[in-house]
Order: sequence, then structure tokens, then C-alpha cells
Amino acid sequence: MASIQQGLTRALLAILLLLQPGFALPRAGGVQARAPASTSTSSSPTPAPSTSRTASSAATKTCNGRSEYCNRSYSNVTFVGSHDSAFVGSLPQQNQNIDIKAQLDMGIRYLQTQTHHSILDDDTLELCHTSCFLKDAGTLKSYLGTVKDWLDDNPDEVVTLLLTNGDSVSITDFGDTFKSSRIDKYAFVPSSSPDKLSMDDWPTLGDLISSGKRLVVFLDYGADTTKVNYILDEFTYYFETPYDVTDSSFPDCKIDRPSGASASGRMYVVNHFLDVDLFGAKVPDRDHAAKTNAATGDGSIGAQADKCKALYDRAPNVVLADFVDQGGVMDAQKALNGL
Ligand SMILES: *[C@@H]1O[C@H](CO)[C@@H](O)[C@H](O)[C@H]1NC(C)=O
Ligand SMILES: *[C@@H]1O[C@H](CO)[C@@H](O)[C@H](O)[C@H]1NC(C)=O
Repeated sequence: MASIQQGLTRALLAILLLLQPGFALPRAGGVQARAPASTSTSSSPTPAPSTSRTASSAATKTCNGRSEYCNRSYSNVTFVGSHDSAFVGSLPQQNQNIDIKAQLDMGIRYLQTQTHHSILDDDTLELCHTSCFLKDAGTLKSYLGTVKDWLDDNPDEVVTLLLTNGDSVSITDFGDTFKSSRIDKYAFVPSSSPDKLSMDDWPTLGDLISSGKRLVVFLDYGADTTKVNYILDEFTYYFETPYDVTDSSFPDCKIDRPSGASASGRMYVVNHFLDVDLFGAKVPDRDHAAKTNAATGDGSIGAQADKCKALYDRAPNVVLADFVDQGGVMDAQKALNGL
């Protein structure tokens, strides 16, 4: 027993040493990595060395790529979001050209996607377009795994998920899926939970990052913060402008959902994705995407945001776009944040 434990301890020490920056692996075959004499007899593993990243990032701190965002309340930042982010490809019903990781890598920090229950298994959440018979982009668990990996690799970034719950799947199934992908450890829980966090009380992006709670999650229907405290009810926090717009001038900023809601006390989502009618079905207008997603000009993100700003006296919190690789969505986001 004791010798097995010693062997394990030694193996653990060897692994820790291999993880040390600058530890050179022996080149010759068959040579074992040997712990230095000073630690080889120690029974408790030495603590992992603290990396230099904490110190250096304090000096040149950025939040979502800019130092200016660190000090801004989450509710006072504009994000350009990817609408139907999981539906990637060139078919008419697909909304994006580039995959989730590429969207995050290009700067998108707000991901919207539809969920439905799987055709085969009611308890499994799948990312499907309208119905899983029409388009099934894989499981929510695998999607969340991709986002988690990206968060692991990018410690100074805040990401938001806006999920729809088209089949009224139970909130605990969402919670289980978040837990099984291990992304729940990043999920932000408002200090007011289970009650609403008022607009003025949102933490800054810098606070979210330093607390490690860098994932903000909203669900359109069926959220219950007494059961899953980090999945927030979208329409408690936001209102939305009309969606499925087919007028390329995006003339409208009125409150579409929740119907009859007041703008006051709510952040807001502008649905800035253009559809065309294809044999009676509304599909994303791919050909027009560069113009729709431009920072300025007729029918652009900037033009619709200006109309909404005039109406509500503040910038949109979210502008959802199809084909985020087209046009100039990051430029538009920068401008909307006054940078
Ligand atoms: C952050 O914001 C606070 C209050 O709005 C302000 O007093 C402070 O100077 C800001 N800090 C930086 C680094 O901008
Ligand atoms: C953030 O606050 C500034 C100053 O009050 C305002 O001009 C801007 O529209 C706000 N942005 C958002 C997204 O609330």
C-alpha cells in the first residue's frame, strides 16, 4: 500500500515538474525525468508555481480586447451578437459562414442560438433551426464545450449566451447540460439572485473577469432562477425590436417583445438581420449581408442603431446579426461604444 502511494506521489511530482516552465525534457530515450533531491523525499506535492500572467495583465489590463471596457458596466456596453450562431454553412436556412470558435476569435462576444429537444431523446438539448427535422447543428453540450474551451484559453474575455427554448424544455435539463459541459463554473450569478439585478447594478466587465464569472447566460422562455440561478430570464432584462425584418432599411425600433413592455429598466436587443422571402419561407438574406452589416450607410448597423438611440436615448446593448464575417460588425460595435 505505502509503496503504491509513494509511487503515485512520485508520479505526481514528476508531472508537476514537467509542467514547470523551462523544465527540459530529457532527449535520450529511456531516461526517466527525475525529481531534484530537495523535493523527491517530500510527501506533499509542491504548489504549482504561480504564473507571471496575473502580474503582467494587471499592468496592461484589457477586457474584451480593450482597456476602456474594463470600467464599463455590463449594462452600458454594446455587443454585436451572432444571430443563430450555430447554424453555419451555405444552405438557405443557415445564418453564419464561420463556426463558433472563428466567431469568438474575430471578436464576437454575444452568441444567440436556438435550442430544441432532440428527436430521439426528449432530455437531450439540440441546436436546431425551427425543428430538428429541418436543421440539427449538434448538441447544446458540445456547443457549450466549444465556448468553455475558448473561455479557458482567453481569460480576459466576457461572453454572453442568449438561448431560445423552442420546445419548453425544463430549466433543470438546461442546468444539467451546462453542468455536464463544465461551463457552469464561469456562469455569472447576479448579487440580487433570485431577483432581478437592476440595470445600474450590473458589474463592470473588469469585475466579471476578476471574479472569474465571465459567462452571462439568458434564456427566452422557461428560466427559473430559484432552480438554476445563472440562467437569467431574457425578457426580465431586455426588450427586443421586431425580428424577421424584410425591409433592408430597418425602419423600426419599436418594442416587439415582451409585448406592452416598458423600455425603462431594460437593456435592449436590436434584431438587425435581414430576411428574404423564399417560396413563402423567410430565410437569411446572404447576398445583402455586407450592406446590412456595414458600420455606416443605408440600412447599416450604425443607421438602425442611430434610430433606436434617438428613440430610447441610449445605445442598444445588443445588435444581432447574421453572417458576422460580412460587412464591418466589429467597427460598428466599436463606434456604438464610443471608441
Ligand atoms: C472607472 O470609473 C470610475 C467611476 O465611473 C472613475 O472614477 C475611474 O476613474 C475610472 N477608472 C478608469 C481607469 O478609467
Ligand atoms: C452608456 O452610457 C453612455 C453615457 O451615458 C451612453 O451615451 C451610451 O449610450 C450608453 N450605452 C449603453 C449601451 O447603454
